[in-house]
Amino acid sequence: MSEAMEDVRALPKPEAYRILKQQVASLLEGIDDPIAQMATIACVLHFGFGHLWTGFYRRVGEKLWVGPYQGTLGCLEIAFGKGVCGTAAAERRTVVVPDVRKFPGHIACDARSRSEIVVPVFDRAGDVMAVLDIDSSEVATFDDHDARALESWMTRFRPL
Ligand code: SME
Repeated sequence: MSEAMEDVRALPKPEAYRILKQQVASLLEGIDDPIAQMATIACVLHFGFGHLWTGFYRRVGEKLWVGPYQGTLGCLEIAFGKGVCGTAAAERRTVVVPDVRKFPGHIACDARSRSEIVVPVFDRAGDVMAVLDIDSSEVATFDDHDARALESWMTRFRPL
């Protein structure tokens, strides 16, 4: 299968997310494997927006282990409650960080990272099973539009 990657950088965010969600929905039709789903979402978001790092950390016990991602090497493991990812997982909420240098405890896997958003992913029982982490090389890349769009996406995406 070969499909062109959508580049949505020039579009307003609501339109950009609508297009990417549509592309993912068509790519994942009939696919219920969570790793395939996470890999596809990470890839489409990463190249669609040209982010620095886009991927998932999976919750295993009280730890987050790196999952499918696009970008340079990510930290392999993050303790629950630590960093932006661990905070989002422990507090079960989206965390938007306009400037990572101002977030106490930020884990810098890549020194180029300047802002980020982390959105929890819940399983069917309502427990956090992963987080979606997106990093940007610019400050203040993410706002409420991203939070709402990604939350509604991750709410419908029940991988397990
Ligand atoms: N920024 C994250 C760490 C993961 S990576 O940057 C890929 C955090 O502080 O949780």
